[in-house]
Amino acid sequence: MAIFLDTSNFEDVKKYHAMGIIRGVTTNPTILLKEGLTGGIDEMKDRAVAIARLINPAPLSVEVTTNDRDEMLAQAQEMSSWAPNIVVKITIHGPEGELDNLEVVHQCETVHDIRVNVTAMMSAQQCLLAAMAGASYVSILSGRVNNMGYNAIDEIRRLRRLLDAYQLKSRIIAASTREVINVIDWLDAGAHIVTVVPKFIDGMIVHPYSKETVKMFLDDAARAAGAAENLVVQRSQLKRV
Ligand code: E4P
Repeated sequence: MAIFLDTSNFEDVKKYHAMGIIRGVTTNPTILLKEGLTGGIDEMKDRAVAIARLINPAPLSVEVTTNDRDEMLAQAQEMSSWAPNIVVKITIHGPEGELDNLEVVHQCETVHDIRVNVTAMMSAQQCLLAAMAGASYVSILSGRVNNMGYNAIDEIRRLRRLLDAYQLKSRIIAASTREVINVIDWLDAGAHIVTVVPKFIDGMIVHPYSKETVKMFLDDAARAAGAAENLVVQRSQLKRV
């Protein structure tokens, strides 16, 4: 699975999807707001449906916008009906540590046939419990973990070992990229997926020395074409003499 794109920008999804290098897309309310999507659930639905159709069957994560237990479940049912490849994002707990969320996750996955991505997690222990609740994806916001002075790589490594040891089906999404190097570092540590903001994908592809090398190839190709043209001219002049 490897790389998801962390955006709600349709043109960006189109661009990187056409390259064949993304295996899914993740969004959250902050990403939607940054994109200027302020039209509530209807606008969110339009964008989600457009992206989901484009990348189908790859998954698109869309986050619920409430922390009320019943509303979370109702929104999860509504969002998952928008397209078959929509995964519903639910945070590990509420803003004050309310504990309704894992029950909703468990119900979604086991009763309602809804795929869930549990998000806003900062540690292997949170992710382990989300995996035990049945989450299809567990998102560890690794850039934020690093920003708090902990090493996200250690958490990802431990988590992967635990998921494998207990044969839990959850896929680890390492999220919250802050540097280009995060992508291969976190995959190498055991994340099944890293969700990457578009600018870092460009950073992975483009290298200054590759640029120089490509320039050399193109310049030499032009020189070689020029030399071949000269040769043809010289030969036709010789024939006339
Ligand atoms: C993705 O699933 C996360 O919501 C996202 O990567 C969080 O990124 P941030 O920490 O830059 O807000």
